[in-house]
Amino acid sequence: METCLVFLPLIKLRWVTKYIFQSGVGAFSNCGFSHHRSVLPDRNEAPKSAPQHVPTVVQNAKKKVEMTLEIQKFWDRQAKRYDQAEKQFATVYSDIIAKTCKYLNLKDNVLDYGCATGSKTIELAEKVKQIHGLDISSEMISEAIKKKNELKISNISFTQGTIFDSDLEKNSFDTIIAYGIIHLLEDNQKVIQRIHELLKQGGLFISTTACMKDKMAIKTRIKVTLYILMKRLGIFPLHLNMFKSSDIENIIMAQNFKLIESEKIKDEIPAIFIIARK
Ligand SMILES: C[S@@+](CC[C@H](N)C(=O)[O-])C[C@H]1O[C@@H](n2cnc3c(N)ncnc32)[C@H](O)[C@@H]1O
Repeated sequence: METCLVFLPLIKLRWVTKYIFQSGVGAFSNCGFSHHRSVLPDRNEAPKSAPQHVPTVVQNAKKKVEMTLEIQKFWDRQAKRYDQAEKQFATVYSDIIAKTCKYLNLKDNVLDYGCATGSKTIELAEKVKQIHGLDISSEMISEAIKKKNELKISNISFTQGTIFDSDLEKNSFDTIIAYGIIHLLEDNQKVIQRIHELLKQGGLFISTTACMKDKMAIKTRIKVTLYILMKRLGIFPLHLNMFKSSDIENIIMAQNFKLIESEKIKDEIPAIFIIARK
């Protein structure tokens, strides 16, 4: 869940350079130096419909696509070293998986949202009928497929994509797992609404979410602050939601889920494990 914070040392200098150049171009093109014509209106000139500096819907959509691509590329770069980095959370996660398994059933159709390299998806597979791993990163998904093929597991499928993909059927999952992802999503409320839509009536939403507003050691607080700063400067591409544990409970309940279990996880970055029913 805290994986994204572990990756600070992995960010390369070329990112910084790229950012400086990109923001330089952006800044100059917006500051008006390119307008070499007189500011007095030409009588024969048709009135302009909108000032050019007003961001249009198209520009915003383009920016969103670019941001998504940056996020995708970030995770693609982590794919090969992801499993190694995750080892430090092995104890916490074996406990979470054990707790999750108590709620799974051999008849279940499960979605593992943000499955990364599929290690946890594979661990959960023997407890359910079918499990589908979904991740935005194609590199993460190819690592997951490699593992699945090596282990010859037949009840798992993996695809690259997002929760809004139209081939995901409404009311089709008994359980949706979202370990370590909701705190990274800007559109977290829409995502939880979509999760609600994809679950069958009575289906379960099982999640772990970092709560970066909860109490943490000073050293960790400094690290988190540094990430926020880097995000503002455009050097770090991931969005970080500053949740308190009660915030995430409220967001889930606001989408008509009933809380079944909610447990604080005391780790370097505090997190919350929540089981909620549709
Ligand atoms: C911190 S990792 C957690 C992975 C895994 N659930 C685990 O517990 O090991 C977050 C994962 O979510 C994926 N991800 C991030 N944003 C996503 C999005 N909008 N849709 C799908 N996957 C996303 C990333 O590619 C990454 O593999």
